[in-house]
Amino acid sequence: MRVGILGSGLMGGKLGTILARAGHEVVFSYARSGQKLKALARDAKGKARAGTPREAVRGADAALLAVHWSRTENVLSQAGDLAGQVVITCSLPMNEDNTELVVAHTSSGAEELARMIPKARVVAAFQTVPSEVLFGVYEARRKARRPSLVYCGDDESGKGVAAELVREVGFDPVDAGPLRIARYTEPFALLVAQLAYEGEGGPELAYRFERLAHRRPS
Ligand SMILES: NC(=O)c1ccc[n+]([C@@H]2O[C@H](COP(=O)([O-])OP(=O)(O)OC[C@H]3O[C@@H](n4cnc5c(N)ncnc54)[C@H](OP(=O)(O)O)[C@@H]3O)[C@@H](O)[C@H]2O)c1
Repeated sequence: MRVGILGSGLMGGKLGTILARAGHEVVFSYARSGQKLKALARDAKGKARAGTPREAVRGADAALLAVHWSRTENVLSQAGDLAGQVVITCSLPMNEDNTELVVAHTSSGAEELARMIPKARVVAAFQTVPSEVLFGVYEARRKARRPSLVYCGDDESGKGVAAELVREVGFDPVDAGPLRIARYTEPFALLVAQLAYEGEGGPELAYRFERLAHRRPS
């Protein structure tokens, strides 16, 4: 696949690197330094390169939006036309100092994003894990028990693309339903962050849902 990275920081830089190592064609874009984008592309070692947001989305099978909420409009305006584009967002609608969700309960960042780019196929994924765990999950991808990763969206084929990328990073993708379910997954991401950054054991934290076999009462 061709994946355009819109925001090449902790999340975008790492996910782009992993996807390049997994064999995808990746374009890193949107950082404050072009040198950083070039270094990311060089170090990813696969078919990766640096580009502008417009170059990143042109001809891409998926664009990964990974910017602070306050940068969303800016990066979208630089990306240009996203009609028909699968846009996977790992962004959370946080306030400036990253202490609170500014959209919640009656809407979500993912839904607000979909309103900003109504012709794009928005999928919310990768919001619910800290960046620190991503390389470890990728390295452990051949183990039988993979961590879960929830994703949601209204476009089934877009969700299929996202699920494939989630699987390639090393997670077990869990389809949580339509995009409005991001109202639940986004606050859940803050719970995971709380456990990762304030709990014991450090930030390399992922989660796994287990469905127990149904047993009839005897
Ligand atoms: N970090 C996590 O563990 C995590 C987990 C789940 C969800 N999220 C969400 O994912 C999104 C991305 O988080 P992140 O931690 O990856 O953020 P980040 O490290 O700050 O990355 C944001 C990217 O945007 C770029 N950027 C910021 N201002 C810019 C400007 N004026 N012009 C050009 N580029 C600019 C940054 O450039 P530079 O590279 O030059 O700084 C960086 O590449 C956020 O919405 C966050 O809430 C993060």
